[in-house]
Amino acid sequence: AWDSLALTPPMGWNSWNFFEAKVSEQVIIDMADAMAANGMKAAGYRYLVIDDHWVAGRDKHNQLIPDPVRFPHGMKYLVDYVHGKGLKLGIYSDAAMLTCGGVTGSYNFEEQDARTFAAWGIDFLKYDYCNAPEDVATAFSRYSRMGDALKKCGRPIVYSICEWGQRKPWLWAKAAGGHLWRTTWDSRDVWESHDANLTGIMEIFRQQEHLAPYAGPGGWNDPDLLMVGLYGKGASSSVDGRFKGCTAIEYRTHFALWCMLAAPLMVNMDLKRISPEVLQLITNPQLIAINQDALGKQATTVLQRNELQVLLKPLQDKSFAVCVFNRAASGQSFEIDLKKELDLWQRFNITEVWSGKPVKALKGTLDAHDCAVYILKPGQK
Ligand code: GLA
Repeated sequence: AWDSLALTPPMGWNSWNFFEAKVSEQVIIDMADAMAANGMKAAGYRYLVIDDHWVAGRDKHNQLIPDPVRFPHGMKYLVDYVHGKGLKLGIYSDAAMLTCGGVTGSYNFEEQDARTFAAWGIDFLKYDYCNAPEDVATAFSRYSRMGDALKKCGRPIVYSICEWGQRKPWLWAKAAGGHLWRTTWDSRDVWESHDANLTGIMEIFRQQEHLAPYAGPGGWNDPDLLMVGLYGKGASSSVDGRFKGCTAIEYRTHFALWCMLAAPLMVNMDLKRISPEVLQLITNPQLIAINQDALGKQATTVLQRNELQVLLKPLQDKSFAVCVFNRAASGQSFEIDLKKELDLWQRFNITEVWSGKPVKALKGTLDAHDCAVYILKPGQK
């Protein structure tokens, strides 16, 4: 059923920040090969999403045509290839005549396009909102039109709503058929932008706190793609020039926080050039288990002291995931009293995630922007 299409946050890869308008059949084939072989598929990554710039226009029957140069064999061929690897293919359109990148969108052709995507075997649609009217009522109606079209297209297609959080989609996106909805403007490959018009990882993170009640199995807040592993080499970054990327510590905190937030885990670096460290991070089994936990709770902040922020995510088996995050630009040591500070009075068996080792207490030292993650499992007395 429609409601069971995204019982846990979708995991995969999206072409946007790194490849932008250079996305192509060869890129997707390369990413599928990499994902199937490098351990990502085994860790749960499934979707390869072609973002903006794949459309050339419509043919004389108004059927969407992929760019013939970059997608020479058409989409069905690519879907078959990706499915052959045990992975799923996603695609992109927009609720207006033109997408953000200025190519053909789906407004007024929702049913035809949904049928086309289904005929190709597409598994995921990211539906953007550039060039569309600002008001909530129109957004709801345009997203519902595509949602309804997808529901009756004859194929299960995960529906990803992308209006950047401007019209509080957490209040209506599920009713429009959405399985995930962007909550902010596009993420940039920078820890903190300090620029009102650009959202870095911290600006995005700070906007998720009040949204926890809206996330759950079947419908997720989407704080945009993971910048992990870009190191300032993405297309957007090079165009903007000013984004130098993040440090390895910042990327691991970014990934841990997105896992705690029950966010979709969509990386977008070039998987052909992924480093062993980044691969190890994004396939960390404990972090993935926290993210994919069946209870589907988004972590909330339970303690803020100095520039230390503690997030808690209840898990299905009555365990808790706890993330101690040092927001400060310098290192600091910490010790958290589970009873007095977090109101957790049970006995727990505690595992520290980076080492994978049991520990007695939540204490240690954190570098600037680093975090520690713990799994607290109720223990016998
Ligand atoms: C918008 C979206 C991005 C990306 C681009 C493509 O900015 O928010 O995620 O899809 O459009 O043009």
